[in-house]
Amino acid sequence: IGLLTAKPYLLGKLFFFSYRRPGEPPLIKGWLPYLGVALQFQKNPLNYLKALQKQHGDIFTVFLGGRYITFILDPFQYQLLIKNHNKLSFKVFCHKFFKAFSLTKLLEHGELNDDIHTCYQFLQGKSLDILLEDLTKNLKQVFEPHLLRATNWNVAQLCTFCSSILFEVTFTTIYGHLPADNRKELINELRDDFFKFDGKFYYLLSDIPLDLLGNVRSLRKKLIQCLSSEKLAKMQGQSEVFQKRQNTLEKYYAREDFEIGAHHLAFLWASVTNSIPTMMWATYYLMRHPEAMSAVRDEIDHLLQSTGQKKGSGFSIHLTREQLDSMICLESTVLEVLRLCSLSGTIRFVQEDLTLDSELKDSCLRKGDFVAIFPAFLHNDPEIFEAPQEFRYDRFIEDGKKKTTFYKRGKKLKSYLMPFGTGTTKCPGRFFAVLEIKIVLIVLLTYFDLELIDDKPVKPNYNRLLFGIEYPDSEVLFRYRAKS
Ligand code: HEM
Repeated sequence: IGLLTAKPYLLGKLFFFSYRRPGEPPLIKGWLPYLGVALQFQKNPLNYLKALQKQHGDIFTVFLGGRYITFILDPFQYQLLIKNHNKLSFKVFCHKFFKAFSLTKLLEHGELNDDIHTCYQFLQGKSLDILLEDLTKNLKQVFEPHLLRATNWNVAQLCTFCSSILFEVTFTTIYGHLPADNRKELINELRDDFFKFDGKFYYLLSDIPLDLLGNVRSLRKKLIQCLSSEKLAKMQGQSEVFQKRQNTLEKYYAREDFEIGAHHLAFLWASVTNSIPTMMWATYYLMRHPEAMSAVRDEIDHLLQSTGQKKGSGFSIHLTREQLDSMICLESTVLEVLRLCSLSGTIRFVQEDLTLDSELKDSCLRKGDFVAIFPAFLHNDPEIFEAPQEFRYDRFIEDGKKKTTFYKRGKKLKSYLMPFGTGTTKCPGRFFAVLEIKIVLIVLLTYFDLELIDDKPVKPNYNRLLFGIEYPDSEVLFRYRAKS
C-alpha cells in the first residue's frame, strides 16, 4: 500500500505535525514514518479494520503509505461517496493505472476516455450473446486436447491450470485467433510475459522509478508490441468490443502509434486478472466441498438433459445466456467465491473540503485526502452473512430462487455484494466475467473428474489488496482425468 501512493516530500508535513481539525473523523496514524498503518492493514485487512471500528466507529481516517484515507465502513453510508461525486475524483487514482500501462494521452484527453467507455456497451446485450458463442467455440479448442490426453489421472497446479485455460480462451474471444502455425507457442509466450508483467504490476502503481523494477519496462514494451494495430489486424475472428475500441483509438492516434497497443494491454489486463483467480477459487471450493460439487453437477446434468445435450465423447456443450442465467446453484457458487475472495476497494480523491452529511454524525473531509469504501468488510459482516468465513455454495439461494434480500440492523441492504465496484466506474465486463466463469466450470465439471491432492487449506495472499480478487498464498495441487 505504501508503494501505491508514495510522495516522500510530504513525509515531514504528514507525519510529524498534527493533522486534526474539528469535525474530522478520528485519526489512526500508526508509528511507522511514511508507511503509517500499512503493515497492520496488509497483514490482515479485515481484522485490522474490525479492531479500528470497535474503537472508533464506522468512519475513521488512517495514515497509510504517505496518504490520509478515510474509510466508510457502514454500508448504509456508502452512497455518501456517490452523492458527493462532484467533490470526489476518480482521476488521481486512474492516473496511476494510466502511467502503469504507459498511457499518456488519456491523462490530457477526457473525451478519449469517454469515447472508450461507450465501447463497453459491446460487452452487453446482443454483443454479449455473440461473445458467449465465440467463447464456447474457443473453449472447445482449448479443452479438446486435454480431453484426448487425460484418460489417466494428471497432476497439475490449480492456479497455473486456470491461468492457462482462461488466458487463452479470453484472449482469443476478444482479440481473435493468431494466424500462425505455431499459434500454441505464441500464445504460451504471450501468457508467460503477461503474468511476469502482472507480477510486478503492484510496484508499477508506485512512484518507484521504472528502472529499479527489473525487466518490467522491456516486458511491457514487448507485450505492447504484440498488441499493436499491425499485429492485431492479422488476427481472425475479433470481437465487436475490440473492433469498436480499435476504431475509437484510431480517431485519436495514428494507426501505428505504440500507445494503441498499450490500450489493448490495459484491457487485456482488466479482462483476465480477476476472472482467473475467481475461477481458481471456485474450482478449489467445489473440490473441497463435495456437497457443493454434487449440487452443481446435478444442476448441470439436469440442464443438459432438458436441452437434449448428451455428454458422449467429444465436446458438444452449447448453452444460451438465458440458460446460464437460470443456473442458480452455479450462480450462487460464483457469487459466494466473489464474496469470499474480493478485496477491491472504491477509492476517491477529495478535491475540496467537504462534509459528509450522515444520519449519525457529520464528518469533515479535507482536500487532498482520500476516501474509501472496502466492500470486503460488508461481505464479511456476520450480521449480514452468517459465519462469513465459511464457503456456503447455497448462500445466494432462497426457496429455490436467487436470494437477493440481505439485512443489516433490520434494514434491507441495497447493495450486499460489490466485487465489481460501484457507481459510474463499475466494471463493464461483469456480465461477461460471470458467464465465462460459469461456462468454463460447466465444461470442467461435465468432462472431468477433479480431486484435490493436497488438502491443506489455503488463504488469500493479499498481494492485490484494494485491486480485486486475491490469489491464494500457495499453489494448490490437484489431479484431473477425462470422465469415462
Ligand atoms: C471476476 C471478474 C472481474 C472482477 C471481480 C472485476 C472487477 C472490477 C473492478 C472492481 C473494477 C473497478 C471498478 C471501480 O473502480 O469502481 C473493474 C474495472 C474494469 N473491468 Fe472488471 N472485473 C472482472 C472481469 C472483467 C472482465 C472479464 C472484463 C472485460 C471483458 C473487465 C473489464 C473492466 C474494465 C475495462 C474496467 C475499467 C472500467 C473503467 O475504465 O471505468 N473486467 N473491474
